[in-house]
Amino acid sequence: MENATVARGLADVVVGTSNITFIDGKGGRLIYRGFDIRDLAKFSTFEETCYLLWYGRLPKASELEQLQAKLVSRRELPSGLETLLEAIPPKTPPMEVLRTGVSALSSFDPEDLKRPESSIGGALRLTAILPTVIAAYHRLRQGGRPLAPRADLGHAANLLYMLLGKEPSAEDAKALDVALILHADHEFNASTFSARVTASTLSDLYSAVTSAIGTLKGPLHGGANEEVMRMVHEIGSVEDAEAYVTQKIARHEKIMGFGHRVYKVDDPRATILREYARRLAQEKGDPKTYVVLREIEEVVHHEKGLYPNVDLYSGACYESLGIPSDLFTPVFAVSRVSGWTAHVLEQYADNRIIRPASEYTGPVDCRYVPIDQR
Ligand code: ACO
Repeated sequence: MENATVARGLADVVVGTSNITFIDGKGGRLIYRGFDIRDLAKFSTFEETCYLLWYGRLPKASELEQLQAKLVSRRELPSGLETLLEAIPPKTPPMEVLRTGVSALSSFDPEDLKRPESSIGGALRLTAILPTVIAAYHRLRQGGRPLAPRADLGHAANLLYMLLGKEPSAEDAKALDVALILHADHEFNASTFSARVTASTLSDLYSAVTSAIGTLKGPLHGGANEEVMRMVHEIGSVEDAEAYVTQKIARHEKIMGFGHRVYKVDDPRATILREYARRLAQEKGDPKTYVVLREIEEVVHHEKGLYPNVDLYSGACYESLGIPSDLFTPVFAVSRVSGWTAHVLEQYADNRIIRPASEYTGPVDCRYVPIDQR
């Protein structure tokens, strides 16, 4: 294309309309279908938030009950998929397993779940089963057997139960539930955009979610929360935080958990998770990680003027809940699958294939030279 303006990383390019999520990057607000996440975190549940994202409104009590029952009935792992998980080498990073698991699930699930017009069924199935896939792999790699999902537990509590083998306290289940609400959607972020691109070719929902998982995995997106905790453990004590961070900045290295394409103030999700990280640290009697994170936050803001994003405190919350660090990003996916599927439904409802252009900077008019003359 001639005379085109190149927007590296598609920054500030509006590629479509959506009525799912609004981000006010200057005001530090995140809105799902008109509802502020601060209210949803206080009053809602992850299941209700799923309903909101998929149907565009809050459910009545009976509608929520039906949705919860549908999610519960779709949690079971097909035995063939469990056999496949058993065959995966136990050192495989869980995000790779999740990507493979969702892709393989497509062969075990009924064909009609894959048709664009029945995607709400696929959305329920994928949202219901992601926790089971992660927990089953985690237990298998530890040499144990997967635990069957518990129908009497909500989405967040059941995930903790299947992972850790004991029913969580109400406080722990609430903390994870809030984290799931906060991660559920975020407009045209990289993984959601991947899902929409795949759906825009009229490929199926399972393929769209597989694309999204592959995109979420990277350290510049969902993988940042694991990197944050690696940094915290490398720093070790609050006294060493300032020197560590200033040296990293001097080497022009990125500090994970900071900066955002859209937010230019505190990410509202980080504000809520900071408070949960503090509370959980206090409850568990282990404030070290929280204190180091606060110090890092202060130094990075002072040195670079950067604000924390959602990933700065999510890892600390998950660690306090007993979730191993390589499962932080999969837990992100457990939540974000609700948003990915809402976006795929929206894409199907008014589709045009997403196919941007590039500016060609290579040579033209090269003369083909036969191989024996090069
Ligand atoms: N540490 C140090 N410097 C930073 C950071 C950071 N975390 N984030 C941005 N900057 C600096 C950049 O070096 C750049 O400076 P320069 O203009 O002097 O070169 C400037 O701020 C703009 O940053 P970009 O990377 O160009 O911003 P972009 O919008 O492309 O990237 C991103 C946003 C990927 C989130 C970036 O801030 C980053 O890499 N952060 C660390 C990774 C992270 O925490 N990712 C999670 C994001 S939230 C999520 O996906 C759920």
